[in-house]
Amino acid sequence: MFQICTQKKTILSVEDIISLIGNKCDGVIGQLTEDWGETLFSALSRAGGKAFSNMAVGYNNVDVNAANKYGVAVGNTPGVLTETTAELAASLSLSAARRIVEADNFMRAGLYDGWLPHLFVGNLLKGQTVGVIGAGRIGSAYARMMVEGFKMNLIYYDLYQATRLEKFVTAYGQFLKANGEQPVTWKRASSMEEVLREADVISLHPILDKTTYHLINKERLAMMKKEAILVNCSRGPVIHEVALVEHLKANPMFRVGLDVFEDEPYMKPGLADMKNAIVVPHIASASKWTREGMATLAALNVLGKIKGYPVWSDTNRVEPFLDEKSRPPAACPSIVNSKSLGLPVSKL
Ligand code: GLV
Repeated sequence: MFQICTQKKTILSVEDIISLIGNKCDGVIGQLTEDWGETLFSALSRAGGKAFSNMAVGYNNVDVNAANKYGVAVGNTPGVLTETTAELAASLSLSAARRIVEADNFMRAGLYDGWLPHLFVGNLLKGQTVGVIGAGRIGSAYARMMVEGFKMNLIYYDLYQATRLEKFVTAYGQFLKANGEQPVTWKRASSMEEVLREADVISLHPILDKTTYHLINKERLAMMKKEAILVNCSRGPVIHEVALVEHLKANPMFRVGLDVFEDEPYMKPGLADMKNAIVVPHIASASKWTREGMATLAALNVLGKIKGYPVWSDTNRVEPFLDEKSRPPAACPSIVNSKSLGLPVSKL
């Protein structure tokens, strides 16, 4: 039997979830706003549960060690958020560069009384440098959009080499050159600071863990160009938000596009008053296709584990689970602790 939570609360507390789990529960689909740690995994295990799936690709809200302790499989939903999230990062980059939100507010306030040469002058992206911190699936998709769409040069920082991305930028540069245009270039930075110093637009795409908490702090903000644009569609605590507010106040030409916040759903004091900040409520994955895909993958993770299916072998290739015209493969699409739990891998 499936049970859908119909509570009016947006964010459920640990106590709310314990009472929803009750005495018998085989598995749970949860959200990134919930704190899945020792307490919830032990409650789920006591109720007979063996599976949990976050309806998100990121799972910094889940204590995977606690899940391992209780033998609970933890699912996530990769592969369906990549382009949608990258498109929001690109939207925030463009909106900040061209001051779209400020200009929209100005129009609605009835302040427009005629064209002026200096009205809402912003930055031309073509020929500028886009910096990507974390060039995984989403970071690379964003980089390609900015390079291909706006002919920006790329500088990126990642512990791993983004070979496919580098090849793409090289080939695109050659294509532009062959057409008599200025070629685009790429560089893999040896430090994050190099990206911060050189890029005109910087987008953050790391996972949130101890090493990336407050990655962007007062000192690192000070390294960035005075007119730089910073975009964050990863997780709020990657930026020290209080330091960011101070930086925005001191540098009116510095602009930021934020989808995530340090203490969601709240913003740090002063952020909402900053004209050089664009703020949206954690909607990076909010396209209809992606949200349906996330829901499907989360459900199949839990259902697959309950049915005893093996785990899918390649979490980058989840399309077979999304085809409405055929039955999904008999596998769990993405279980992040499958190795720790010794779960079998599908041969499909
Ligand atoms: C959204 O933020 C996600 O991680 O899926």
